[in-house]
Amino acid sequence: KTTRLDEYRSPAYRVDEVRLDVDIHDGVTTVSSELVLQRHADAAGVSSMTFNGEGLSLRSLALDGVVLNEASYRYEAGLLTVDGLPERCTLSSVVDIEPEKNTALEGLYLSKGMYCTQCEAEGFRHITFFPDRPDVLSRFTTTVRADRARFPLLLSNGNPVASGEDGERHWVTWEDPFPKPCYLFALVAGDLACLEDTFNTMSGREVALRLYAEHRDLDKLDHAMESLKQAMRWDEQTYGREYDLDIYMIVAVSHFNMGAMENKGLNIFNTSCVLAHPATTTDAGFQRVESVVAHEYFHNWSGNRVTCRDWFQLSLKEGFTVFRDQEFSADMNSAAVKRVEDVDFLVNHQFPEDQGPMAHPVRPSEYQKIDNFYTLTIYEKGAEIVRMQYHLLGAEGFRKATDLYFERFDGQAVTCDDFVACMEEVSGLDLSKFKRWYSQAGTPVLSVTATQDEHGYSLNFRQQTPPTPGQAEKLPVVIPVRIALLDRDGEPVILDEQGRREVVLIVDQQEQGFVFPGVSGVTPSLLRGFSAPVVLQHDYQDGQLEHLLAHDSDGYCRWAASRELYFAALDRLVKGEGGTANVAQAAEQEANQLAAVLDQVIARAGEDAAQAALLLALPSEVALGDRHVPLDPGRVHVAHRSLRRALGHALQSQWLELSESLLATELQMDGVAMGRRQLRNLALEYLAAGDHPEAERIAVELFELPLCMSEELGALRTLVHYQLPGAAQALAQFEKRWKDEALVMDQWFSVQASAGGTDQVERVRGLLQHPAFDWATPNRVRSVVGAFAGSNPAAFHAEDGSGYRLFAEMLAKVDALNPQIAARIANAAARLPRLKAELQGKLRAELESVKKGASANLSEVLGRVLSN
Ligand code: ARG
Ligand code: ZN
Repeated sequence: KTTRLDEYRSPAYRVDEVRLDVDIHDGVTTVSSELVLQRHADAAGVSSMTFNGEGLSLRSLALDGVVLNEASYRYEAGLLTVDGLPERCTLSSVVDIEPEKNTALEGLYLSKGMYCTQCEAEGFRHITFFPDRPDVLSRFTTTVRADRARFPLLLSNGNPVASGEDGERHWVTWEDPFPKPCYLFALVAGDLACLEDTFNTMSGREVALRLYAEHRDLDKLDHAMESLKQAMRWDEQTYGREYDLDIYMIVAVSHFNMGAMENKGLNIFNTSCVLAHPATTTDAGFQRVESVVAHEYFHNWSGNRVTCRDWFQLSLKEGFTVFRDQEFSADMNSAAVKRVEDVDFLVNHQFPEDQGPMAHPVRPSEYQKIDNFYTLTIYEKGAEIVRMQYHLLGAEGFRKATDLYFERFDGQAVTCDDFVACMEEVSGLDLSKFKRWYSQAGTPVLSVTATQDEHGYSLNFRQQTPPTPGQAEKLPVVIPVRIALLDRDGEPVILDEQGRREVVLIVDQQEQGFVFPGVSGVTPSLLRGFSAPVVLQHDYQDGQLEHLLAHDSDGYCRWAASRELYFAALDRLVKGEGGTANVAQAAEQEANQLAAVLDQVIARAGEDAAQAALLLALPSEVALGDRHVPLDPGRVHVAHRSLRRALGHALQSQWLELSESLLATELQMDGVAMGRRQLRNLALEYLAAGDHPEAERIAVELFELPLCMSEELGALRTLVHYQLPGAAQALAQFEKRWKDEALVMDQWFSVQASAGGTDQVERVRGLLQHPAFDWATPNRVRSVVGAFAGSNPAAFHAEDGSGYRLFAEMLAKVDALNPQIAARIANAAARLPRLKAELQGKLRAELESVKKGASANLSEVLGRVLSN
């Protein structure tokens, strides 16, 4: 069943109030609800209404207190239709549900003995009858009842207003004063530990902050609490947004389909996005907690107070909120490093999505299962579109526009057009053409040529967006291209009469040229800060990329130059263009070519170790593969491994020096210390890649006595991925140390599942037999299946098809329990149309056999992949 944007109709009835009573018993939970319905003014004459309901066993239904007989309603195919409704009335229902059997983890379910909910996007219909769509906003009052000893904690949205005891059982009533769509409903019943703090808002109100987790994890909540307080302050200072309830709660759960959920006043988080302790959490994990805590908090305004009219507008809240969390993290840490990390993620993951069978616009026009559209395009490309508007308006103008947006639409469900209209209104800009970014899928390719003549220096642009499924023809988009022109010392030259050394060129035609009179002998620094989400193509002259990498003041451009250099070398190795048939020899020549400029980067590493690590890391094997059609993953694997090894060898004394000099003696968790660890781990990997005799000793020493998980895991990864002799013992030791820490064991699984090389398919299969492997825990499934299909291209694309066979078995197994997770993992097959013919046939056959009997979620993804 397909839902279409152009078929949007507003609902006939509002639901002004919802009174829920959730009575939890082992095996069955009874949900009683009262919906106060009010017919919309423009729906005069309508007297029937439909309510969503999935898998509810209906016990009774009444209208204004009178039991309804079976002639006046129908419940079939997930819809309850009630006829004969007056203009204002109360519909009461009582249903039974079975959260114990809910392995899909949508609606009410059980995670390690705790009851919790996930309602976005369409989970609420698994709890009770309701118009489950984001444009129905209601005031919720919720009573939760359960056994007192086993579930001492009963939570829902808003403020607790009443509670009581009833023999062995107890109950609490929560009232949320803010009207909200049902996807923001949440409920928790469990026995949890709590970290408490308070926050004083800018207007002087005191908010109680409560973070809940299993008792054993109480010592892992401090970082989330710090992050939350910083996010609350930041949103006041940056957007003028203040928190609006007296309590803000976060609950950590072990079974969760996504990262976290912004339910009003009661966020529910995947443990992986909220728990953090230096002994068990990597530095990247700490940064992820900071950004996800902030993300969910920021949704309180961008998502909750102002919400989406329909799910086609998902990026209205997600793109905007990702932009907000990216800027927050940039302010808390190194802004230049954060920007490169975000761009790295976008180009390595969203670009491939946008260039394959799953490509869709940031505001899609149709879907089968909305769960499948919680994508990198909606989130990350959506954030880039907001970022472009931020730069078009400037910080001040953008703030005025968001003030207007929040004020005008507070308490409403709106569209991406409404957001852009605010930008236009305060700036006077006409963004109608800019809005093509929302409706057109695909990554625009921007080719730039530079010419020099007696008038000066010119840049000529040509843009082209390739066709995507369902969108053959593309119009030009508005591309802001921030540029500078660097002289021989790397200094930006003056570009115009105002004396500016950096300008933004607006490219909005298919072809367009810009002249800089009197300028000559420069190196172009293009798309600075990654000013637009496009693929930039430019034929750099000899030495220009090295010049940019060594001297550009723009962190993104330095990094982009490093990618160009690596890719050029890697591409030649893949294509066998090195002038020698021996890949290892060719790789050595390439590495010697790169060594001089990389040595300069290493020499400057002391300025910013994290940035140096980003510049020195090779692009991933998957990213390399994405540049070659037809894709021969075996060749790509050999090319990648050869260059890694050659670079490890060519710069071995530098890697050794970095591995030893960056060793810390005491634990610090600030950005500088984290950057040093990142660079050190990278140096150690290169050392191992180059077969240096010291690599194993250093890795084992680090592994034996690590200061923190980043060191411990970095050492383990090096041992395992480079198959050093100490690998097996380290794996056994790590497992023994951490067998009771689920999130750490996830890392143990994923290090092994992502180790590329011979025999890896069987090794991964072996991981599935491990007693700690569990098909019903999404984090564990991702740590094996996700790592294998997403980060182990050599094994996944094994020539004999054994990787595809394993993948298909995994998909079927996951799908039977959790369709959302299965569909998400299936995206790894989206590279099918790029594969060389033999592999394509093998993968296609496996996917076709899984598609028979697949869930609606999985079948939508497989259908798109196979249709190509
Ligand atoms: N709104 C959440 C976030 O981005 C994502 C939850 C979506 N969950 C899902 N199962 N589709 O913060
Ligand atoms: Zn979000």
